[in-house]
Formats: sequence, C-alpha cells, structure tokens
Amino acid sequence: MAIKDIPLRERIILALDVDSPEKAKELVRRTESHLGYYKVGLQLFMAGWFDTVDWLVARGHKVMLDLKFFDIPETVKLAVAQIRNHGVSLATIHGNDAIIRAALTEKGDLQLLAVTVLTSFGEEDLRAMGMTQSIEDLVYYRAKRALELGCDGVVSSGLEAGRLRDGLGDKLLLVTPGIRPGANVMDETDDQTRVMTAGRAIANGADHVVVGRPIAKAADPIAVIAAMQRDIELSLR
Ligand code: C5P
Repeated sequence: MAIKDIPLRERIILALDVDSPEKAKELVRRTESHLGYYKVGLQLFMAGWFDTVDWLVARGHKVMLDLKFFDIPETVKLAVAQIRNHGVSLATIHGNDAIIRAALTEKGDLQLLAVTVLTSFGEEDLRAMGMTQSIEDLVYYRAKRALELGCDGVVSSGLEAGRLRDGLGDKLLLVTPGIRPGANVMDETDDQTRVMTAGRAIANGADHVVVGRPIAKAADPIAVIAAMQRDIELSLR
C-alpha cells in the first residue's frame, strides 16, 4: 500500500456535530491549530445552511459535506451542482448506479464518496430482504461498483478498510468513522470490533478518519488530537 501525501493535519476530519454555526465555529477555533479538515453533517447544515461551510472555506479549511444525498438521479445531480460552487472538498451520496452517474456529471473538483451500506443496516435486514450475502461482501461489491462508475471513494468502517484497500487499490479514497481514542497501533491486544484507533484505521488503509465526540467532548481536545496524530504517524512508519 502506497503512503499518500496527505498532511497530518488533514488526516483527522473533525465532525462538527453541534446544533448551531456558533458552536461549530467555537469548536473550529479551539482545534484549528492542529486540524485543517472538518465535516458538516445534517444537523449543523439544517441549523445554518452554508453559513459554517462558507466560513470554513474562507478560513482555508477543507470541508466534507456529509448529507448522504439519496433521491432520483436528476434531483441528486442538481443538489451536487448547488454544493459544488461552495468550495466543498468532499461530499457523500448514496451508492446506487443511477445516482452516482447523475452526480458525477456535476461534480467538478468536488470529490464524491459513495455510501455503501449504512452501519445501522444489519445482517438481519439483509435476511429480511431475502439476501444471502454478508454485509462485508455487499460493502465490497458496492465500493467496487462505485469506483468503476467514477466515484472517488467510499465511507467504510476501519475493519472493512483493509479488504477494500487491498482489493480496489490505492486510487480509492477511504474515509473511516468509528474511531476511539487510544494509542499505539502495534498493540495486538486491540480486539476486532467496529471501532478502532485512528492509527489502526490508517494502517488498515484508511486515508482519513472521521472523529466526533472523542474530540469534541474531551476536556482537552488538543491533547486527544495530538495523541491521535502521534498514533497515525506511528502507523505510517
Ligand atoms: O462517534 P463519533 O462522534 O466520532 O462520530 C463521528 C461522525 O461519524 C458522526 O458525524 C457520524 O455521522 C459519522 N459516522 C458515520 N458512519 C458511521 C458512524 C459514524 O458517518 N458508521
């Protein structure tokens, strides 16, 4: 696996999961000495529309706009056109073929990530639909398809990152949520669950990790960020 030339301050994407642009900006001011990439999701976007997005871009930060567009292809295409001109770096759409094709026609410089399978969707949901494959196989197939169609990458758990990176190559952009604090990527006692440390996720093939509460709710957010960045650096050696 080739190590990509991604600045350390952009490896962690901090999720601004707060209910107002004011609170989001406060969180950015507290962390921007160490970070340069922020995620705006549905909650914050509903509270302030492009207010925080435009403010972040004007401050020189990168923005992941995580609105997971899911509608008829024409509507998704027009929605992508709306966000393209705001300087957003990364946006999320659902990974159906027609949606991806439509979104790509308006993407410009924007990088598009396909949602493969929501983590709230479980094996029992698959069985209820009469499907026999595993969630992991479905994630892999949908990621492969998204990439073939021209998507830049996918959002995936750290556990799936390894298989996706090995199977789909370096070009794939992999963004991984479900990160918890902790250091030392070499700690073999780290058991396999859907959450993992930032370093472990990067070692498994993630390009970026999305982190929310572990940083936002910490008494000392900078200390948590610095520890995660050390962990990431170690994993890249
Ligand atoms: O758990 P934490 O607060 O770190 O979550 C950070 C972000 O990761 C949230 O904004 C959430 O929407 C996102 N997330 C995701 N997919 C998951 C789990 C979390 O996009 N499977």
